[in-house]
Amino acid sequence: MKTCNILRLAALTSSLIFSAGAIAADSFKIGLILPMTGQQASTGRQEEAAARLYMAQHGDTVAGRKIELIVKDDTTVPDMTKRLAQELIVNDKVNVIAGFGITPSAMATAPLATQSKTPMVVTAAATSSITEASPYVVRTSFTLAQASVSVANWAGKNKISKVITLVSDYGPGKDAEKYFSQTFTANGGQIVESLRVPLMNPDFAPFLQKVRDAKPDALFVFVPSGSGASLMKQFIERGMDKAGIKLIATGDVTDDDQLNGMGDGALGVVTGHHYSAAHPSKMNKDFVKAFEKANNGMRPNFMAVAAYDGMHVIYEALKATKGEGDGDALVTAMKGMKFESPRGPISIDPDTRDIVQNIYMRKVEKQHGQLYNIEFDVLKDVKDPGKTK
Ligand code: DHB
Repeated sequence: MKTCNILRLAALTSSLIFSAGAIAADSFKIGLILPMTGQQASTGRQEEAAARLYMAQHGDTVAGRKIELIVKDDTTVPDMTKRLAQELIVNDKVNVIAGFGITPSAMATAPLATQSKTPMVVTAAATSSITEASPYVVRTSFTLAQASVSVANWAGKNKISKVITLVSDYGPGKDAEKYFSQTFTANGGQIVESLRVPLMNPDFAPFLQKVRDAKPDALFVFVPSGSGASLMKQFIERGMDKAGIKLIATGDVTDDDQLNGMGDGALGVVTGHHYSAAHPSKMNKDFVKAFEKANNGMRPNFMAVAAYDGMHVIYEALKATKGEGDGDALVTAMKGMKFESPRGPISIDPDTRDIVQNIYMRKVEKQHGQLYNIEFDVLKDVKDPGKTK
């Protein structure tokens, strides 16, 4: 009898130990790697705030799994992104990696996602080829090809015939230059010159001087989130708008994170992009209000909405797999997902794992004393024009 009790106790103890282990393993970990410092720090600040807002609104338990968000700062250095991803996958055993502020960070990390079969949700970087770098990449941001083609089509219909392009000299800038120029010339326009500025610490002055001297109808620009304000300042200081040179751009330039500080010189700038904080849907109004309330009045930008939607994709995939968390099953569940985002209706292309979304044409206007990108036209359900297959 006594032995029997001891045995029962032993069985009970081991089952307790076992279930304690099971509870620990039960949390579902998301490793969010972002530039929280360095040139692209605004991307990290916006995206972390949005991911935390999503969790605050939707709870931190999904399909019986406790969600654990682990945020890491890659300081805008791609080697660091890769090292952090390796540590998160091997040591922390994360179920998903997400974030990736710039294209080189995403490209450096993609092979690790493939080797470890870890879903990699790209919520910022926007070069078309990123989704082709690993079958585990799913993107919720956008591509420069999506934005640039729409600007080129608009320019062709709006009395702009000679354009100089000015882009940051790396993946997304090259895509912006290529897809803008290709579409614009196919519509009969002329590219007078194609200028590229360094990604890090760019000095726009000598490039803008060149543009002023050449006097095209318009200057088309792509610079990454966070660099728009200094480009705009130098454009206005040179009186280029007054000299009759129109500034047209992807929406990265009139970034909602910086737009209101750019001053009235930004009024009238036309851009194409997938998100404006002024998007007039009920869902967006609620999103902007909640985001500003939780973050001392900070206005959400296109990076924030991509992180918010990235969290949605992860939550819904975990629900669809009934909390299982296997990498292949999660990616399968993400393919073809369709939902309403604060930016409008979006889906994940099941073939390319890239985002399909509306691209809006916008003009900077003043509303309630603040500068906003006001949408005046929309191209619906735009797939990435930059896919090779
Ligand atoms: C990328 C970064 C940005 O900040 C942006 O606005 C667009 C693209 C990139 O590196 O892919």
